[in-house]
Amino acid sequence: MSHQRESPIAMGKEEFKRIGHELIDTIAEFIDTISERPVTTGETPSQIQQVLGHAALPEHGTPAAALLTKAAGLVMNHSLLNGHPKFLGYITSSAAPIGALADLLAASINPNVGANILSPMATTIERQTIGWLAELIGVSPSYGGVLVSGGNMANFTAFLAARTAKAPKSLKTAGLAGTGGALVAYCPTTTHSWIEKAAVLFGHGSNAIRWIPTDDANKMDLAALRQAIADDLSGGKTPFLVVGTAGDVSTGAVDDLRTIAAICRLYGLWFHVDGAYGIPAAAVPAYRMLFDGIDEADSIALDPHKWLYSPLEAGCTLVKNPQHLLDTYSAHAAYYNFDGDDGEVPNHNYYECGFQNSRGFRALKVWLGLQHAGRSGYVQMINDDISLARLLFERAASHPELEAITHGLSISTLRYVPAGHYNGRPETENYLNTLNEALLNDLQRRGDVFLSNAVIRGKYCLRACVVNFRTSAQDIEAVIEIIVREGQKTHLKLRQQQGATTAAAYGS
Ligand SMILES: Cc1ncc(COP(=O)(O)O)c(C=O)c1O
Repeated sequence: MSHQRESPIAMGKEEFKRIGHELIDTIAEFIDTISERPVTTGETPSQIQQVLGHAALPEHGTPAAALLTKAAGLVMNHSLLNGHPKFLGYITSSAAPIGALADLLAASINPNVGANILSPMATTIERQTIGWLAELIGVSPSYGGVLVSGGNMANFTAFLAARTAKAPKSLKTAGLAGTGGALVAYCPTTTHSWIEKAAVLFGHGSNAIRWIPTDDANKMDLAALRQAIADDLSGGKTPFLVVGTAGDVSTGAVDDLRTIAAICRLYGLWFHVDGAYGIPAAAVPAYRMLFDGIDEADSIALDPHKWLYSPLEAGCTLVKNPQHLLDTYSAHAAYYNFDGDDGEVPNHNYYECGFQNSRGFRALKVWLGLQHAGRSGYVQMINDDISLARLLFERAASHPELEAITHGLSISTLRYVPAGHYNGRPETENYLNTLNEALLNDLQRRGDVFLSNAVIRGKYCLRACVVNFRTSAQDIEAVIEIIVREGQKTHLKLRQQQGATTAAAYGS
């Protein structure tokens, strides 16, 4: 009798090879033909539910080959493809194929990167990856950090490190009650919604955020920042954190980081930079100056799953003095024997550096991507993305039916403006907002291009963000044509609807 256990979820070597090769063939074909597919099918949630069906939890198993064939069909044919060259919405990048292979390898070994002893090589690779990210954006290699799931978590992780560093030491035992609700944080109005979530979730309440207005270039108004800090100090508040943005989500604007750093130094505040999207552009010599002052940040959020083309999920919190992470997140349980007895300080026990305890090997896809393209490869891709966003802006600026609104880093905003609608009258502006919102909804359902939106100084805009190594100049030209063509149709449709409403009102 064999002593091998029969486990329904185990898979023999031959079966794994056969199914694995088949799956890789299917994925290779998918990647190769991604530009010929629709960006999205535009199916409604109920249509998708119908495709999936309503099967109950299966009582018995099904052979893996059939399951994987079915799963591949479902996700390849009914997903929004952010790897499509005309996917320019939000800030989700085309995923590097090496990242997909990395995830397969990572899952096969399945190290728990919570503690060095559980993941000796993976922990060391994560540490090297974090060092390389610091090097890529040009801050001191002494920055340490932790990989997290994405931008929200990277910013949350830093927010709490800032609080530990700047709040009274009683915070750990007495909680926020001991601070008298006095802690306040400052950020530009352009800051991503993570800051509101952080203030609410971590017990400060949204009133603890001071939203600082931005100037015409969408950068934080620093005179207003100084004034707000001074007002709070004289009002008995305890400022602890200033957030600068390095690539705001709507327009790609980068704050004046050097001056914010000086203000933080003057008042003894923590300087955090949300570079979740934009900071990789600091690697490009032509744009380095935009990020002047980043080397003074106490913490930086940077998302490899945005502009470094890692598959979801991969974010990173970099901290100038990594001790602040340990001060914030370290906890010692009697049942953990993670400190080693060989006299060496563990390379890192990452469970002590952030929210997670058990942690996956997300570093592998980032680490491999950085090597596959190399620094020069990333500089080239990021530079190209910025040039393509600029091309879109320029094409919009020279088109009689388009208005170019902003261009910053790899984000451009524009709107469709039919002939005769450039008069700036409030009723025309209202109509243009309605028109562009309807146009965006149409575009998002159609599937030949995917854009998102931004509202800039009251104007509802179409927004394209190029974090996509597959997008070409031809795609950008096509996007312009599609926007104009669909804009004309939407305008006609709205006019007809308005005509019908007016006719109905007059009883004709
Ligand atoms: C500047 C900035 N910060 C934070 C985030 C949140 O990132 P995530 O969606 O990965 O949590 C985004 C997302 O677009 C962003 O642009």
